[in-house]
Amino acid sequence: MQIINSIIHMQALAIAPERGERRISFVPTMGFLHEGHASLLREGRKRGDVLVLSIFVNPIQFGQNEDLDSYPRNMERDCQIAEACGVDIVFIPSAAEMYPHGFQTGVTVRDIALPLCGASRPGHFDGVATVVTKLFNIVRPDVAIFGRKDYQQLAVIRRMTGDLNMPVEIVGMPIVREVDGLAMSSRNAYLTPVERQGALCLSRSIKRVRELFAGGELSVAVLMEEALTVIKRESLADIDYIEFRDGTLLHEVTIADGSTLLALAVKIGQTRLIDNTVLGEES
Ligand code: PAJ
Repeated sequence: MQIINSIIHMQALAIAPERGERRISFVPTMGFLHEGHASLLREGRKRGDVLVLSIFVNPIQFGQNEDLDSYPRNMERDCQIAEACGVDIVFIPSAAEMYPHGFQTGVTVRDIALPLCGASRPGHFDGVATVVTKLFNIVRPDVAIFGRKDYQQLAVIRRMTGDLNMPVEIVGMPIVREVDGLAMSSRNAYLTPVERQGALCLSRSIKRVRELFAGGELSVAVLMEEALTVIKRESLADIDYIEFRDGTLLHEVTIADGSTLLALAVKIGQTRLIDNTVLGEES
């Protein structure tokens, strides 16, 4: 496995004639890898000849009062996981090289980036769209793998690559959960043991709503009431949003169907967690 820190070096490999017909598959991450990331890497391994992982805690997608400085990092362990998943190249650029003095260009995706996390974290998806565009131009992947854990992010990236004719196939993968239901996240590392228990209210509320929907309940008002009840029973929980939206365009809906997305963002103590489900899809 090769570790590359320089943009020019990474780009040179990606566009070298020696690349020939070899397909590059790409998994962008912010590191502190877990089984969710590993599932993307294994999919990437199957879909390409050269598997590239990027690890970059992207400063421009964090808000002023967010956790950029404390974001968990462990390069050594990340490289071991990467190696075990068959990664060929780990690309670890510096913030100084990604955003040199004078940097002033950005990519904005409009409507689909406005609700949910776009409303709670202004500028977040501009930061994501911009860094993913840069990474695509550096790594030149044929296929890029993202998790549905960040459902809106995946929708934004699909929209962006379509709208801007980026020649890369986008693949979305299921949410990987701990055995007790908690969606895996690098940010779970922030949780104290008591908060870790409290964090289960997100997946519990999703489970409850899925049960009601499977039993024939289609009223979003009723489903919402149940979702709220489950979360409010947890004293550590502070709701950022709980929303039911159309799974494709993210429009608000009042009657649920199989393609309806339930998306939650809840703070447990100081840690903001997100989770989601599409009601008609396997969980
Ligand atoms: P990060 O949070 O590190 O996530 C990297 C990828 O892993 C994303 O596509 C995310 O959806 C996926 N992922 C995270 N937890 C997952 C889980 N439990 N199951 C399945 N997939 C999971 O998302 C980012 O980084 C950044 O915004 C990035 C796209 C790298 C741009 O900076």
